[in-house]
Amino acid sequence: MKPKKSPTMAGASDYTIPLMRPQLPTSSQLAPYLAEIDANRWYTNFGPLVLRFEKRLAAHFRMPESGVAVVANGTTALSAALMAVGARPGSKCLVPTWTFVASAAAIWAANLTPHFIDVSSRTWEPDPDALRRRSDLGEVGAVMVVSPFGSPVNARPWDEFWSETGIPVIIDAAAAFDTVASLDGARPGRCPVMISLHATKAFGVGEGGLVLSTSEQVIHRLRQVCNFGIWGSEEGQILGYNGKLSEYHAAVGLAALDGWAMRRTELMSRTLRYSQELKRLPSVALLPAYGDGWVSVYCTIQVPGNVPAIVDRMASLGVETRRWWQDGVHVQPAYRGFPSDDLPVSADIAAHALSLPFSHDISDEQITYVVDSLARSLDI
Ligand SMILES: Cc1ncc(COP(=O)(O)O)c(C=O)c1O
Repeated sequence: MKPKKSPTMAGASDYTIPLMRPQLPTSSQLAPYLAEIDANRWYTNFGPLVLRFEKRLAAHFRMPESGVAVVANGTTALSAALMAVGARPGSKCLVPTWTFVASAAAIWAANLTPHFIDVSSRTWEPDPDALRRRSDLGEVGAVMVVSPFGSPVNARPWDEFWSETGIPVIIDAAAAFDTVASLDGARPGRCPVMISLHATKAFGVGEGGLVLSTSEQVIHRLRQVCNFGIWGSEEGQILGYNGKLSEYHAAVGLAALDGWAMRRTELMSRTLRYSQELKRLPSVALLPAYGDGWVSVYCTIQVPGNVPAIVDRMASLGVETRRWWQDGVHVQPAYRGFPSDDLPVSADIAAHALSLPFSHDISDEQITYVVDSLARSLDI
């Protein structure tokens, strides 16, 4: 297998094996839902398809219907969740630098200041006990915990943290659609859990987001924030904006739920295949708890050596890989001026993290080729 063109010319189509190949429901799978929209002549504003999508999601996540809200996208869902839990405007929100830039963007949009913190080397997530010991908790209005690449966040210790300290916690579980549904330990409690429904996620609708919480009050407030702060009258009663999901996106979501059982089986088979193949490379480590009862659309690994050079070498072999979260958010131009702790663990994880090509239909042969190419690229 040879690259079709020089990989330095960029663009996923330049690679024999692209990093991802999202596939949302086809036009024929969408057709019955689109026909309903035609008949209803109701296109957004909590329409019948959005309500049905939320109802089916509640059943999927074993949550009450009052514990689920769909939102226009994951970033909006995060900032709305911060507003819904009453995070004090102008205060700091502690957030790991080891995340996608959207986490920090959502904090800024909710009128809080992101303050970057380190993660545990065992879980790649913040440690609640380490946060309890901080001397600056008086300045902290919220904490945002991030699930790296769909791995499980145990929600219980964060509910306890919120109760003990009075500081609300939001869980950014953008890629954890399956983890949150499949693992009892990841089940949402009071802390709102955000899942992105972006096209590139395991379960996507195009653009969309989902928030789960056992607190009816949090979900109700979140809906109000996402409806301009309006609820039950024509006036804006609290600060808010437009974060509503349209009927068309709900149609995609309903069709995607129809096909989810099959999609999950395919993703699990690809996850297990990668885990098996990567055993050939003892210097390579998988993401903590990778594939342990849950699936995502990532195979993010830790590799020794110079990772940017490995990315280039893999590209020359026709395999697209990515350092998804780069060196963390705190060093990215827009965020360099924000407060930050020392971040030695995040720096180490970021320096060695590499995401391999993944999709529900990547073949056994392609996975073998990716792992062979990695073996050759590690020898530099
Ligand atoms: C960790 C994390 N948080 C937030 C988001 C934002 O989600 P969305 O793209 O739906 O706005 C993403 C998107 O990939 C993400 O990876």
